[in-house]
Amino acid sequence: MIRRAVIVNFVLAVVLAQTQPTCKNVFDYTVCSSVEGVLTEVKQRSHHDRLEIFNFDLTSIEPGAFKNVSLVTLYLSAGNRISNLQPGAFAGLPNLKNLHLQNNAVTPIPGLFQELPHLERLTLANNSITHIPEGTFNELSQLKELILDWNLITHVPEETFNGLSELTKLSLDKNPIETINQTTFSGLPKLTSLAVERSEITTFAPNSFESLAELKNLYLNWNNIGELRAETFKGLSKLDFLSISDSAVTTVHDGAFRGLPKLTVLLLDQNNISTILSGTFIGLSSLYHLGLDNNEISVIEAGAFEGLSSISHISLVNNKIATLPSGLFAGLTKLDSLWLVNNTLTAIDRAVVQLPSFARVIFEF
Ligand SMILES: *[C@@H]1O[C@H](CO)[C@@H](O)[C@H](O)[C@H]1NC(C)=O
Ligand SMILES: *[C@@H]1O[C@H](CO)[C@@H](O)[C@H](O)[C@H]1NC(C)=O
Ligand SMILES: *[C@@H]1O[C@H](CO)[C@@H](O)[C@H](O)[C@H]1NC(C)=O
Ligand SMILES: *[C@@H]1O[C@H](CO)[C@@H](O)[C@H](O)[C@H]1NC(C)=O
Ligand SMILES: *[C@@H]1O[C@H](CO)[C@@H](O)[C@H](O)[C@H]1NC(C)=O
Repeated sequence: MIRRAVIVNFVLAVVLAQTQPTCKNVFDYTVCSSVEGVLTEVKQRSHHDRLEIFNFDLTSIEPGAFKNVSLVTLYLSAGNRISNLQPGAFAGLPNLKNLHLQNNAVTPIPGLFQELPHLERLTLANNSITHIPEGTFNELSQLKELILDWNLITHVPEETFNGLSELTKLSLDKNPIETINQTTFSGLPKLTSLAVERSEITTFAPNSFESLAELKNLYLNWNNIGELRAETFKGLSKLDFLSISDSAVTTVHDGAFRGLPKLTVLLLDQNNISTILSGTFIGLSSLYHLGLDNNEISVIEAGAFEGLSSISHISLVNNKIATLPSGLFAGLTKLDSLWLVNNTLTAIDRAVVQLPSFARVIFEF
């Protein structure tokens, strides 16, 4: 009888040892997870507003695992492979403002972030995300930054960003997104910074950015854009910085930059532009710096720089310019430096091109 009891107890102890979560002290928290990688419990021992749960090989989080902890910043990024998350996983985190989930395999679903109304920063970079269902971000009315870089998103349906009324920064770099249209960025009234770099954008439909009235910085480098059509950037009335470098741009149509009265920097370096058409930059009355290095520019039409009344620097390094039309710089009263290093042209007649007397022309570095 005694022997049997001992054996039963022993077996029970072995079973318990296998299924009991293991707990570790991390910062001022006790963090428990099962052998299967389920985060089962996070308890607070004293106040500490930041917790990094690294190298736990987590695969999921049990709903309710966080026992009303006062964390502000939570990292679950390095050394985990979280894939299976259900609504409730982030309950018990009433003060959370920053949630870092990069390098996992999280599938976004509606309601996943519903218990996080104060969240301000969410990083879901490198999670193999292919699709963001409508409603995923509905409850994140205080979110300011959303980072979705290095995923597998091919298109962004109309309602994707619904609810993100305070978002100021959105980053979608390194996703295979091909087209951007009028609905892609709808529902983001306060966005000031947008990056869609190293993607596969070939086309912007007209008015693609129309709803982004507060946007200041737009980064579109390393795409495969080809043509920049008229009215592409219409509506971006506060845009300050626009970069479309290394994006295989061959043609910039007349009116491509119409509607950008506050733009100060425009970078079009490392493209395949051969001709600068007359009137290309009309309307860019605040532009200060224009970068056109490393293109194939051989023709600059008369009136190409018309309207650039604030321009200070124009850089045309490494192109194929042999001549400049007369009067090209007429009205560019603030032009301070013109970079013409490595072109066919080696001297210019300042009077003929109407270059301001104080402007420097740089032929050699
Ligand atoms: C969570 O903790 C705070 C204090 O840290 C307390 O005021 C609140 O009532 C707790 N909420 C729940 C649901 O336990
Ligand atoms: C993406 O996440 C995987 C798995 O965590 C990791 O091995 C890889 O280095 C990450 N890639 C980048 C670019 O961070
Ligand atoms: C915009 O693109 C989305 C996603 O690719 C597509 O579903 C939608 O029909 C497009 N809308 C318009 C007006 O072209
Ligand atoms: C640049 O454009 C020309 C046509 O204008 C094309 O033949 C060439 O392949 C393009 N080069 C690159 C690198 O896209
Ligand atoms: C000069 O520009 C051409 C392109 O027009 C480029 O191929 C070449 O490498 C440049 N030379 C130097 C020294 O940068």
